[in-house]
Amino acid sequence: MADLEVLEDAAVLIAGNRIAWVGPRADAEPDASVRVVEVQGVVFPGFIDCHTHAVFGAPRLDDHERRALGVDYKAIAAAGGGILQSVRDVRARAEAELEALTRSRLAVLLAQGATTIEVKSGYGLELEAELKQLRVIKLVAGDIPATLLPTFLGAHEVPPEYRGNRAAYIQLVCDEMIPVVARQGLARCCDVFCEPGVFSPAESRTILTAAKTHGLAVKLHADELDGSGGAELAVELGALSADHLAGVSDAGVRALAGSQTVAVLLPATLMFLGKRHQAPARRLIEAGAAVALATDFNPGTSPTLSLPFVMTLGVSQLGLRHAEVVTAVTVNAAAALGLAGERGQIAAGFVADLVVAAVNDWREVAYWVGANLVSAVWTAGSACPPLTARIS
Ligand code: NIG
Ligand code: FE
Repeated sequence: MADLEVLEDAAVLIAGNRIAWVGPRADAEPDASVRVVEVQGVVFPGFIDCHTHAVFGAPRLDDHERRALGVDYKAIAAAGGGILQSVRDVRARAEAELEALTRSRLAVLLAQGATTIEVKSGYGLELEAELKQLRVIKLVAGDIPATLLPTFLGAHEVPPEYRGNRAAYIQLVCDEMIPVVARQGLARCCDVFCEPGVFSPAESRTILTAAKTHGLAVKLHADELDGSGGAELAVELGALSADHLAGVSDAGVRALAGSQTVAVLLPATLMFLGKRHQAPARRLIEAGAAVALATDFNPGTSPTLSLPFVMTLGVSQLGLRHAEVVTAVTVNAAAALGLAGERGQIAAGFVADLVVAAVNDWREVAYWVGANLVSAVWTAGSACPPLTARIS
């Protein structure tokens, strides 16, 4: 992960939506038909945000304030705040309104360099509201110049109307929601919040096995706050990724290290929750796991729209090297979405998603905490227009 190739005074040739060549500028041989764009700064592969919950209504300011007063995330959820607060909001909100909010928020993420973004549902928890969120992702994907990858997260929480009968909700997810979502082509992946007090490993296995039979790839919120064998389950199921992992066990670290499943770490979440521990990033890397970083952008635990900020946390909170955080938001984040062969590298044949940071040294992108240094973005070979958006 620390093995980056950095070229000085380089050129990238783009043909259509793909990269045709990269190398020393002096060796570039553009013919007269090539339009030349001069860039000052550092060109990175477009960053990939492989874990967001970007479709929601209002920010959860009361949760934030209650935590400042010492109340814990799970206690706030048990008292009716948390995920269910956003569920009430999403169920009641018009699709067009959710679409406008999601579009402007994702435009900010893109302006900070995220050219490919995974977006989960999971604030509907009933068929029609889950479909509404997934349709919003599809609509926004049609008009912002980032690539959006939709994930169905119907098992984000047990909705209030099934609190006395969780088995019936799991059956609904497996027998009705997953088949409809798959038939309508509204999701590429299925995710479950596998966590003590939310969904158990056995329940998660049932749901993700159903998803696989309907052709969806699987991911897992695994061992986010407390451990329950989520990482081991992700590996058993051949998941693309196991995400969060602050409570991962030693066996979970070993299982990930021996697998193709990417360990997606989300340091902004634990920082925003005011927790003092983070996932064991160094142990995962030293054991041989592939580590990616993402924002986890959501209204409850991580309202950040900046992957460069997450890169700073990667260095300062997780003990990753600068080169490792670049790999974590490019090559490894692509792998966490099943896109390792076509995104996340500046190399011939890869999709021409490029980000320019107005810096002298590439390490500065993870150094200037919270500054947006991204000065230009190209997706699929085309320049993205500058941003004019509000997020609330
Ligand atoms: O990744 N853990 C579950 N989902 C989100 C939180 C969602 C919420 O609080 O709204 C997470 O932390
Ligand atoms: Fe999440």
